[in-house]
Amino acid sequence: MAMKGILLVLLLESLVLVAADTFKDEALNIMASCPVIDGHNDLPWQLLSKFNNQLNKTDLYTLNDTHTNIPKLRAGRVGGQFWAAYVPCDTQGKDAVKRTLEQIDVIQRMCEEYPEVFSCVDSVQGIEDAFAGNKIASLIGVEGGHSIDSSLGTLRTFYKLGVRYMTLTHSCNAPWVDNWLVDRGDDQAENNGLSEFGKNVILEMNRLGMIVDLSHVSVKTMRDTLEVSKAPVIFSHSSAYSLCNHARNVPDDLLKLVKEKRGLVMVNFYNDYVTCSKTANLSNVADHFDYIKKVAGYESVGFGGDYDGVPRVPEGLEDVSKYPDLVAELLRRNWTHAELNASLAYNLLRVFREVEQVKTNMMTSDPKEVPIEYEKIKSDCHTSYGYDVSDVKDAAERQLLGKGLILLCLLYSLLV
Ligand SMILES: *[C@@H]1O[C@H](CO)[C@@H](O)[C@H](O)[C@H]1NC(C)=O
Ligand SMILES: *[C@@H]1O[C@H](CO)[C@@H](O)[C@H](O)[C@H]1NC(C)=O
Ligand SMILES: *[C@@H]1O[C@H](CO)[C@@H](O)[C@H](O)[C@H]1NC(C)=O
Ligand SMILES: *[C@@H]1O[C@H](CO)[C@@H](O)[C@H](O)[C@H]1NC(C)=O
Ligand SMILES: *[C@@H]1O[C@H](CO)[C@@H](O)[C@H](O)[C@H]1NC(C)=O
Ligand SMILES: [Zn+2]
Repeated sequence: MAMKGILLVLLLESLVLVAADTFKDEALNIMASCPVIDGHNDLPWQLLSKFNNQLNKTDLYTLNDTHTNIPKLRAGRVGGQFWAAYVPCDTQGKDAVKRTLEQIDVIQRMCEEYPEVFSCVDSVQGIEDAFAGNKIASLIGVEGGHSIDSSLGTLRTFYKLGVRYMTLTHSCNAPWVDNWLVDRGDDQAENNGLSEFGKNVILEMNRLGMIVDLSHVSVKTMRDTLEVSKAPVIFSHSSAYSLCNHARNVPDDLLKLVKEKRGLVMVNFYNDYVTCSKTANLSNVADHFDYIKKVAGYESVGFGGDYDGVPRVPEGLEDVSKYPDLVAELLRRNWTHAELNASLAYNLLRVFREVEQVKTNMMTSDPKEVPIEYEKIKSDCHTSYGYDVSDVKDAAERQLLGKGLILLCLLYSLLV
């Protein structure tokens, strides 16, 4: 009897094991024809931090103290990656533009140095070609509106350099847009979401064909953008607020708006956004996929791991090699092949295609030319060329100086 019981337990256990392997096999099978396009990876930031962007000081095949390297990307069936051209908020109004250019450059050099692995692309067609050639389609996302230094000319130039999304803020306001810290009371609202200039930034991104990314922004900014944008938007690395009420996550009413506007929320794996604690596991992340699918539909879910941008990742999702394990868990939760195809790649491709279509539709509209108000950017690090500031402070100073000189002359003439 006992023997039979043990045998039964062994049999059941092996069935469970077989089932587990089957899910993993099926995941790998699905990802063989439909690899993942992830919304946000901070390897470029690691390259700056560790090597001051000297690629020649490392080898991306053997780099082993990051979440990301080439063997891990291959094992993870990563077929597309938005690499973050991220520079911290303390560059704002200082060398943000230069440093962003350097991060764009290091991404492009990565593609040049490892052409057998990465293919830098900037269109839906480019992604599809990279898939077909078994290359990792590499795209550039600028993380933080401070990177354009309130300049539409800089935004347009970034587009020409291949930038295909811009996250409107990082963890600071820009002079035209408010960030998520405002919702926590840790930052003052300065623009009540998007300012008028900010709305023009969105329309200019629409006209250019640059995807708008709402990760990191305040809820009011999310709402303003969803209202203004002519194209669907993404959250490149954010999770569900209802499962973890962190202000970096997306509340239910916004999830519904994203669905309505055919946008996409790419789930962030960072423990602190997944469970609102320091610990998390793969199953907790799968809960966010299930939840967003329930509220906004499978057409609105994607992957946005935030690898190499966070200090903690969930058990079972230790690095970029683990995407197939997450797909296996979703299969276990009865996600269909079509739903997985969509969340792995097709949702992003759909959004990107629509963004490209809006660009085509707007082909005849003129570039936005009205600069931000001088008062918004005035600082020791900015000159005023092009602005008519004669009636502002400079004029006041000149007047004061003039009066001072007259006084001196008077004094002199009295003394002499
Ligand atoms: C890296 O650059 C240095 C200096 O330009 C050069 O001497 C060296 O050969 C390069 N190393 C590799 C591995 O390319
Ligand atoms: C990681 O890489 C460093 C530098 O190449 C090497 O010295 C070290 O042995 C590696 N560690 C492991 C665990 O492979
Ligand atoms: C994941 O963590 C949850 C607690 O949040 C726990 O209930 C669950 O058993 C864990 N799953 C695995 C597979 O470790
Ligand atoms: C998946 O579907 C099977 C068969 O219909 C069902 O027995 C199981 O409870 C479902 N699992 C989940 C997590 O929905
Ligand atoms: C999933 O995508 C692959 C690759 O495009 C395709 O071959 C397959 O038919 C798709 N499956 C479903 C169910 O949509
Ligand atoms: Zn981020």
